[in-house]
Amino acid sequence: MHDIIAQLEEKRRAASLGGGQRRIDAHHEKGKLTARERIELLLDEGSFEEWDMFVEHRCSDFDMAEKKIPGDGVVTGYGTINGRMVFVFSQDFTVFGGSLSEAHAEKICKIMDHAMKVGAPVIGLNDSGGARIQEGVASLGGYAEVFQRNVLASGVIPQISVILGPCAGGAVYSPAMTDFIFMVKDTSYMFVTGPDVVKTVTHETVTAEQLGGAITHSTVSGVCDRAFENDVKALLMVRRFINYLPANNREAPPYRPTPDHADRIEQSLDTLVPDNPNLPYDMKELIYKVVDDTDFFEVQPEHAQNIVVGFARMDGHPVGIVANQPLVLAGCLDIKSSIKAARFVRFCDAFNVPIITFVDVPGFLPGTAQEYGGIIKHGAKLLYAYAEATVPKVTVITRKAYGGAYDVMSSKHLRGDVNFAWASAEIAVMGPKGAVEIIFRKDISDEDKIAAHTEEYRRKFANPFIAGSRGYIDDVITPRSTRQRICRSLAMLRDKELENPWRKHGNLPL
Ligand code: HXC
Repeated sequence: MHDIIAQLEEKRRAASLGGGQRRIDAHHEKGKLTARERIELLLDEGSFEEWDMFVEHRCSDFDMAEKKIPGDGVVTGYGTINGRMVFVFSQDFTVFGGSLSEAHAEKICKIMDHAMKVGAPVIGLNDSGGARIQEGVASLGGYAEVFQRNVLASGVIPQISVILGPCAGGAVYSPAMTDFIFMVKDTSYMFVTGPDVVKTVTHETVTAEQLGGAITHSTVSGVCDRAFENDVKALLMVRRFINYLPANNREAPPYRPTPDHADRIEQSLDTLVPDNPNLPYDMKELIYKVVDDTDFFEVQPEHAQNIVVGFARMDGHPVGIVANQPLVLAGCLDIKSSIKAARFVRFCDAFNVPIITFVDVPGFLPGTAQEYGGIIKHGAKLLYAYAEATVPKVTVITRKAYGGAYDVMSSKHLRGDVNFAWASAEIAVMGPKGAVEIIFRKDISDEDKIAAHTEEYRRKFANPFIAGSRGYIDDVITPRSTRQRICRSLAMLRDKELENPWRKHGNLPL
């Protein structure tokens, strides 16, 4: 028996070395951790249960029969993060460049299937040269098996992708179908076709980093939800991030006790909104001052900054926050911000995370770029997402809530459960100046008359009381009491039950 155990240990040792020490050293030299080091950092110490360490590929073409490495380029299994179960796969670039063979895909599918059975998140650590070229269509089939599972798991268990190396070609579509994508600056990239193909087809000269690096995807494209400096930072942030999420769509997100009292009054909020309605202020200041322990995990902080989305806790319970940001584009809704917020709202709704919406929105951004780009359909995504959501929805209008954007931003009419307005709120079809220029067009050349009309319009409509008189606003509150009022509303809504009519699925405007 001793011999057998010794042989097992030797086999394990060999398998743990992946592609061998030389390749591990080269990998470290690029500033990257190995697949196993990444799992160690991600999971609670000693919690990892590895499966399929001895799986090998079945390919014999191109001398592959002689080149078999146990594990076949991906480390899979499950473990815990802060005591909560997660399934994980971690691609090993030292083995055939982390490329995906049929067997490699089967390992990933196995843990995805188990995660669905027990209702636990899947975290994918991606570092791969794509389809295993020697295997041809068998590898493509393997990808499609993973894609199918991504789709069936969507909205059932949280799926998180961390991109820690190359991710190119069709391989990008598995992460794209997961809920959140995190990338590492300088060492990871994602693109459908690489710089060489781009050069041939469009004659553009672009580096891999410019085309699909973490900065590109976290700022321009919005494909990536957060970009981090290195592997260690990324993995530690995933540990923090998962604390906001439930294990599956049947559970409530995890409660964490806090010393931050639900009734805390925040005097400084009374002076947050400037007297001049055209001056901006930082909506993030409100978020940080209202949530538990000033702890806010922002999603897509560098992309479509005219809207802020992210996770926080209120009285210990996770919430999703959506907030217009007056500092950028005056907080207008445009194509990118609508898509960003719609996807976030839908995630929260799928996973029982209540949504708090802070509104200061002058409307949709005008212009040909927006109209030609399809703002009608993209703006409708956010409207659709809010209207469809059945989780508790609490809305606070801090200043402007104009036009269609008033309706969209979790208004009472879209089943907002509790809708508050600060006394500084202006709820109207449009801003005073624009409104007067339309309804008093005949006086347009008379500055005094226009000024008088504007003042009258402002007095009559640029306040929260007309909406309040119709019950569209449940109460007009003081800024300082915002946390207290939201916490009480969420406590009242904790057992909320609301279902949409049965259907196969809705037809979100794509
Ligand atoms: C098999 C691969 C591989 C692949 C890399 N390797 N990619 N083996 N299939 N797809 C192997 C290399 O041969 C090499 O083996 C080792 O991994 C490390 O690769 P290097 O090229 O030395 O590393 P590096 O210089 O860091 O470059 C990494 C790379 C490059 C940029 C990822 O390897 C590359 O371009 N690979 C091919 C990418 C690609 O075209 N993949 C197919 C995409 S199409 P040795 O033994 O020499 O160390 C696709 C379709 C998916 O994925 C469709 C899904 C629907």
